[in-house]
Amino acid sequence: MTTELKLNGKLFQLDTDPNTPLLWVIRDVVGLTGTKFSCGAGLCGACTVHVNGEATRSCITPLSDAAGKEVTTIEGLSVEGDHPLQLAWQELNVSQCGYCQSGQIMNAASLLKKNPHPSSSDIDQAMTGNLCRCGTYNRIRAAIELAAKKG
Ligand code: FES
Ligand code: FES
Repeated sequence: MTTELKLNGKLFQLDTDPNTPLLWVIRDVVGLTGTKFSCGAGLCGACTVHVNGEATRSCITPLSDAAGKEVTTIEGLSVEGDHPLQLAWQELNVSQCGYCQSGQIMNAASLLKKNPHPSSSDIDQAMTGNLCRCGTYNRIRAAIELAAKKG
């Protein structure tokens, strides 16, 4: 039995165990490596993608839950890598090691879709579960505020 996955606007028919975490389908089956593995237990946000526009932790989401839905990864957030958040991230040099940052941006993109002009506390509340070992939290908040202003 195959599972149909719509990923970044492309349809894939996958002969993959439907219990496989979406993260491994994205990385190992489809070959998109922007989405990262860290805790593997839904605790850090490094693996965040969008499923039907909702920020979703792909390490704890089985492929079967994403079947028939729109999945977007950092590679599909904008065609040219010029989403307002990506531009703000570059302008403010947010990344340090970079490992957590695709998950941060995907979570922030979901926030801005629901709340285009979030307050600092809205941002902190929405981003609180996305961990950064390098401690870039202040730059992340500033970049979200910049993107909201420009977007
Ligand atoms: S790797 Fe998925 S939440 Fe940490
Ligand atoms: S930039 Fe290194 S973990 Fe966030």
